[in-house]
Parts: sequence; structure tokens; C-alpha cells
Amino acid sequence: MSRDAFSHCVLEWWREYGRKDLPWQHEPTAYRVWVSEIMLQQTQVATVIPYFERFMARFPSLPELAAAPLDDVLQHWSGLGYYARARNLHKAAHAVAEEHAGELPQDLEALCALPGIGRSTAGAILSLACGQVQPILDGNVKRVLCRYHGVEGWAGSTDVLRRLWTLAESHTPEGDAGPYTQAMMDLGATLCTRARPACERCPLAEGCVALRDGRQRELPAPRPRRALPERETWFLLLLDGEGRVLLERRPPTGIWGGLWSLPEAATREEADAWLRVEAGEDAVWESMEPLAHTFSHFRLNIRPLRAVCQSPPADGVKEQARVWYKPGLSPPGGIAAPVAQLVESLPEASDRPQPFS
Ligand code: ADE
Repeated sequence: MSRDAFSHCVLEWWREYGRKDLPWQHEPTAYRVWVSEIMLQQTQVATVIPYFERFMARFPSLPELAAAPLDDVLQHWSGLGYYARARNLHKAAHAVAEEHAGELPQDLEALCALPGIGRSTAGAILSLACGQVQPILDGNVKRVLCRYHGVEGWAGSTDVLRRLWTLAESHTPEGDAGPYTQAMMDLGATLCTRARPACERCPLAEGCVALRDGRQRELPAPRPRRALPERETWFLLLLDGEGRVLLERRPPTGIWGGLWSLPEAATREEADAWLRVEAGEDAVWESMEPLAHTFSHFRLNIRPLRAVCQSPPADGVKEQARVWYKPGLSPPGGIAAPVAQLVESLPEASDRPQPFS
């Protein structure tokens, strides 16, 4: 699809189905559009509307915003979240009052120099309020372009971002700058949604790579997961003659803080030494199937070892932090998930007669 055909289809669609009655579209001054764009970051249109109206009633112009105490601004933001947005808005209003005589500058570079205004927000202000031919690249537009052009890779990476800006620029028409910006936002927000895009109603369906290849769910690609560091531990399952297993309570802080877990050893040698102390010279370990557990910041590879001691040392449970636990009965407290999985998989546990269900 040529440059003109792309924007032509998007604009035709917007004229029929797009949003034209939002509060900031009435009297779209740079100030009003700026405030709306900041409020609309990470927040839905329906949520923003009443906040925008109250904000404009209290701070009808940029000099009035600059003159207001920060607390007053924050109070009008209360409930919208991401309060750094409000603090930056106030800070930027001060800068504009001092450096630009109270008028938002109408060029990209000067706008981007203000706190809280990035290139896409500046592009939106300049196109929507001033009719300048400026591309935007917010989350919605990124999704549309990634799908339409089949752009691979995470849209947060520098090279993908550069490619998307080039594409955004190449599609922005010479005329109708404001309507085109609004149209791309509306298309991304209402049709080309993340989870269930309405491709059958999309004006760009004909040239869309994601639709052609059935890859709407894969594009845009999510942020790549970092390879997690791995750690290894031996879980020690010591059983008494009655099929009970020794559990220990973990320290109150750290991983699984306060939960009941199995004794652990950092090495096989440490596990052997532990067994000699707890169960005597004759006890032997039997390896169980390894398992892994993923935490947010590392992956724990667990090597379970199991041993039976016929006469557990009498002082084995003297400390408050140890119990002999009979699998299947009510546990002494919270048990970490992989520990519960291991304990319940013990032969003694699965051999138990099952209650009727
Ligand atoms: N999201 C960001 N800017 C918007 C706008 N002008 N209209 C609707 N949704 C938006």
C-alpha cells in the first residue's frame, strides 16, 4: 500500500467511526491537548474525561496551572495514579511560564525539553493542536505498525524503535495531520487491540502482514525474558519408620520466609554429612527426580534426596523450627509449593488408601 493509500484508508475509517467528541477535541489548544495527552498515558479515555474536566475548570490556562500550589494540582490528580505525571506537568508549566512567556512552544525540540514530554507526546500536541505534520508513536500506534508491517522484535529495543519511527514518519500525510494522529490512536485503541483485534472491520486489513500470516497474537513481540541465573540446592527428605517426613521452618525473611520447607544442603558432601548426624552411619540417600522452581530473579534447580531412618534421634524435633509431618494430614503451616509437591509424591503418601470422593 503506498503512503497515500495507507493514510487515506485510516482517515476514511476515522471520518466514519473515529472519536470526534472528546472534551479535549473541543477547543483543542496546545495546553488542553498537552494536559489530555499526559492524563491519557497509561489511563483509559473513560477514566480521564471527568478528571480532565475538573482540571480544566480549576486550571483553565497554563499560567493558572503554573501559579497553583503543587498540592492543589496533586489533589486534582488524586485517583489517576502515576503522580510523577502531575509533578512533571506542574514543573513544565513553571518552565513555560518563565522561558516561553506562558505559551507552550510550538516546536518539537523545545517541547521535548520539558519535563514529562517525550517525542510521541510532543508529536501529538503539535499535530492535534497546531496542525503540524508530526508523527506519533504511542503504544497503540506501535501495535498497529508492528502488525501491519510484520515488524519482529520487542518495540522497546533501540533498533525496532528506530524502524517504527521511520515507518510512522513515512505514513504521516502532508495534510490532515491532526485527524490522522487521532485516527491512528483510535484505530489502535478500538480495533487493533492487543488481545482481540477486530480485523474484519479494519481499514488496513488488505495490506496487514500479521493478518495475512495469522500472527496477530505474536505481534508485537513481548519484551524478551531475561535469562535467569540458576542456583542449585539439595532438598533432604528424611523419613521416619511411619512415613513422616522432617520439615524445618525457614527464617522469617528471604525466600519462602516463615514457610515450612525441607532441610537443604548446598552440596552432595554437605547432604551426606547431614545424614550421618541425623540418621547415623548406616543411612543412605536415594536420589529422587530433580525439579525446578522459578522465582522472579532466579531459577532454583532442586535435587531431592530421600532416606529412611528407623530410629530417628530423639532430639530431632526438640527445636521449635522442626516437625515430623505425615503427608496428607494437615500441615503445620504454609508449605512452599515444590516442597508440598515432593512430600506428596513420596511412595508412602501415594500408597495411602485414598478417601472416597
Ligand atoms: N490516547 C492518547 N491520546 C488520545 C486521544 N487524543 N484520544 C483518544 N485516546 C488517546
